[in-house]
Amino acid sequence: MYTGHYECLEIFARPACGKKGYIELLDENGSVLHQKELKHIYGNWIRLQLKKESTYEVRLRDAEAALAYLSGCEDILERGICILDTRTFSEMDAQQYHSFCDTPYREQYHFTPVVNWINDPNGLCWFRGYYHLFYQYNPFGQEWNNMYWGHAASRDLIHWKHLPVVLEPQEEILDNPVIKGGAFSGSALAGEDEVCFYLTRHVGPQEDGWDTVQYQTMMKSRDMLSFTPEKEIIREKPENASFDFRDPKAGKYKDHWYLVLGSCLDGKGAILLYESPDNEHWNYSGPLLVEKEPIRTIECPDFFLLDGKYVAAGAWMDHYDGQGRFQMSRYYIGDWQGGELSVEKEQWIDFGSNCYAAQTFCHEGRRILIGWISDFYHEHVKTEQGAYGSMTLPRELHLKDGHVYAQPVKEVYDLRDECLYCGESSDFSRESIGGNQYYVKLEFDNPCNFRAVLGRDGEKEISLISSSGKVFLKTKGVKSEEIDFTAQVKECRKAEIFVDRRTVEVYLNDGEDAGTKLFYNSSREGSFRLTASELTRVELYTMKSIW
Ligand code: FRU
Repeated sequence: MYTGHYECLEIFARPACGKKGYIELLDENGSVLHQKELKHIYGNWIRLQLKKESTYEVRLRDAEAALAYLSGCEDILERGICILDTRTFSEMDAQQYHSFCDTPYREQYHFTPVVNWINDPNGLCWFRGYYHLFYQYNPFGQEWNNMYWGHAASRDLIHWKHLPVVLEPQEEILDNPVIKGGAFSGSALAGEDEVCFYLTRHVGPQEDGWDTVQYQTMMKSRDMLSFTPEKEIIREKPENASFDFRDPKAGKYKDHWYLVLGSCLDGKGAILLYESPDNEHWNYSGPLLVEKEPIRTIECPDFFLLDGKYVAAGAWMDHYDGQGRFQMSRYYIGDWQGGELSVEKEQWIDFGSNCYAAQTFCHEGRRILIGWISDFYHEHVKTEQGAYGSMTLPRELHLKDGHVYAQPVKEVYDLRDECLYCGESSDFSRESIGGNQYYVKLEFDNPCNFRAVLGRDGEKEISLISSSGKVFLKTKGVKSEEIDFTAQVKECRKAEIFVDRRTVEVYLNDGEDAGTKLFYNSSREGSFRLTASELTRVELYTMKSIW
């Protein structure tokens, strides 16, 4: 391993079953410089200081590395970490990383972690020239486990550089397999000189219950690479709140700070409102919203001003809607003068129900949303060095006629590559779309019936269908096949479809509704077929990779 510009080695490793594991660092002459014992069964994050432009060897003894990278270089926000092959500890250059990511199931232009599990986007913000995306991360495996905060930065919201992991679970959790927890979801508020982060610390039994402890902390950063120690800001729960009490999302209006938390009051999912004169001392002002539907808790709430109205948002934990869709997320739109939001309209955030825990932030007047592409129907196919979880395309939000519209940010369209077709047709098909990463735009003069097959893998299929005024995503031959993922539109005049390996994202009528659905296709070749009852304008482009 050659360090080049970097001065730090970070390895996430665990000992082989029942053994004491070690990591050894050797210099170029083969002398052992460090020997680190892997203390925890799970959750060893080893950091070693190195010299720049030097050669080292890493040896694992009775140990296995899940993730390894070089960090600690001056321009790391621009350059990103240097990812190491965990078998050889050699550096991956851009071309090698591109090939590493180029598997049938991994998205090519949606954000994915280097490896393993991610969930919610956290701490979204723009600070000094970069967009920052933090996220819930388990670097050790392709399943949820004790939570870390991963981090990436981007100049354009599209091309991301992976950055060092930021937060790890509390030490007590790493040493005790009976409990779980870690650095749960949270948000960021970027000022001129520093960014404040708010998050939940969770510790509790494997099954959540009244022994579960969730409290809120904050930390600050001036460079997005070093962070102040976390300080507890909210521990006391309102009397009638459940043990679900988490995911602080902070915002600022004029000179006043507010923060919302997801919880459940007297058995009803709720968003709790806190206010602060200085962004560090928080007072509970009461519920912003209490949901009537039976849901365990609202998770990852949000609250913001959008084109003159207030919008609250939240993810519904453990809830099936009337169509059998699991864990949908909702917007509540209305007026607010302090206290409870007076809701005038509600709608789903995404009709596909594979978009969860969405978070928004504002930059230069744009309210941008990113959601976690979740897999609530357990359709994941585990592959070696695979990633499990990704982020939706960044969506710009607007309010039109009291309804939230979500459209991919304009930067996404720069990813369009080769135009494969542009014309009119009512029966169009294209087999073997190399890379299975493409964009289709369909425009209809009059709303009509159509079926667009967006992916096929043997007998398995995913389609966008418009039939008798109902527009929906439908799968065949996979676990979600019983469910119609129905959009909240009366008619379809325009459909924009983004296919990216295992992910399909659909935007209808310039953002009137958005739907995200997974479809694991074992081939890197995609296909598209349209049959419509009327002549349709069709544009089909391949999409570039972001890695
Ligand atoms: C939502 C969520 C959050 C929590 C985090 C833990 O997906 O359950 O409420 O903070 O994930 O990873």
